[in-house]
Amino acid sequence: MSPRTVRREAHAKINAFLRVLGAREDGYHDLESLVVPISLADVVTVREADALTVDVRGASELTGAVPAGGLNLALVAALALGDACPDAGGARIVVDKRIPVAAGLGGGSADAAATLLALNELWGCGVDEGTLAELGERLGSDVPAMLVEGPVLMSGRGELVAPAPMAPLWWVLASFDFGVRSPDAYRWWDEAGGGTGPDPVPLLDAAAAGDAEALGPLLFNDLEAVVCARHPEIAEARDRLLELGALGAVMSGSGSSVVGLARDEVHARAIAEGLPGALVVSGPPA
Ligand code: C5P
Repeated sequence: MSPRTVRREAHAKINAFLRVLGAREDGYHDLESLVVPISLADVVTVREADALTVDVRGASELTGAVPAGGLNLALVAALALGDACPDAGGARIVVDKRIPVAAGLGGGSADAAATLLALNELWGCGVDEGTLAELGERLGSDVPAMLVEGPVLMSGRGELVAPAPMAPLWWVLASFDFGVRSPDAYRWWDEAGGGTGPDPVPLLDAAAAGDAEALGPLLFNDLEAVVCARHPEIAEARDRLLELGALGAVMSGSGSSVVGLARDEVHARAIAEGLPGALVVSGPPA
């Protein structure tokens, strides 16, 4: 009998807004964010095996130069689930990378979340959602949000997640060949005296209604100014997206990626033509 296999897409995310509320005693920051999964995804495949191994495949710029806490999060996730699951065995985990690394797109967190879900099924652990979320929270602040299928309003340091209904929209994604480390971005925010963006209710209403025209000008990210001050390319890409007709443009997470919001798919493709290397994505996936 051939070994059983479970395959899951690990969708990247963008932050339609990211509001930093303040630094905490534990080194993290309290925040609020609308986390939107996008069509760009890694694929995580797990297969029964004697030992636990992780194999990362993809273009060398995606699999090489892995930042600490990046891709190996899939392995850490497997070990964490193994501790919580008496039926855990070995597994061969293969991650096919498409999501740029350290790009503010939650690639490592998405891989970890998909690994938890896939191994829970492969090993027949029956670990419930709440316990998976607790395991996820220990792996990284974005993992609980990535365990939920669909957009979420995230708060706390990331562990509090509530589904946020939203119609699919079209975005143009500009990524760079450099990443930004989250601890750096949050430290720069502290050093700058930490500005906090507006009440997100109008933005959440626009997102829920799928009203791209209303949503575009409301997109914001409190980490954007301090990251752009160190990486002017990010601000240039944001401004270029707006010049090309995006309804709004914002840095995702702690950077380095930027997304521009389009009216529809045709509009997104027209904008992307003006920005070499840009990708057209739907979010949430259409
Ligand atoms: O949780 P995660 O490992 O993704 O966080 C990486 C770093 O980003 C943290 O060590 C912290 O410096 C910063 N961070 C933060 N507040 C958050 C999430 C992350 O300060 N809510």
